[in-house]
Amino acid sequence: MRLILIGFMGSGKTSVAKLLADKLNLKAIDMDDLILKSSGRKSINEIFEIDGEKKFRRLETHTAQQLSNKNNVVISTGGGIVMDKKTMNYVAKNSQVIYLKLSFDNATKRVALKKTRPPLFKNIQFAKKLFKKRLPLYASYADITIDTNEKGVSEVVDSIIVELKQR
Ligand code: S3P
Repeated sequence: MRLILIGFMGSGKTSVAKLLADKLNLKAIDMDDLILKSSGRKSINEIFEIDGEKKFRRLETHTAQQLSNKNNVVISTGGGIVMDKKTMNYVAKNSQVIYLKLSFDNATKRVALKKTRPPLFKNIQFAKKLFKKRLPLYASYADITIDTNEKGVSEVVDSIIVELKQR
């Protein structure tokens, strides 16, 4: 089994991946963690500030390629992965892609609770534009869509398991 979590910043991909992996006896892998390790920087913010977004995207593609043959995993992706076809094809191959859907208002609220804001969520107007652009892409790649607006992490995980059992 190979599960891929996609969705906008703040949709809970990393936390959901951990609990889902625990419950299904799979390994949770966070792409941003691997990208950070390969960058030699201290934070994702630092990669964006010092190396730029282009470099981040190159590392993201490379990380996706390295993970493309891993099985028995739940992979949490970064919110921008759907912007690049090649990167998305590496992760989506032989996988079930699960889209954690939430409204822009809820994404804003959840991101505000984080210790550090993701670099592309520093300007709310800009983030809203990204959200609108990405929404149809998330939907187009999704095999399973979970509405996470009124749900906590464990409810989201339970909903995913219900959906997986129906397949
Ligand atoms: C990004 C989302 C971030 C991280 C990077 C770029 C994006 O991950 O990959 O800051 O383009 O939406 P999260 O979605 O986990 O915040």
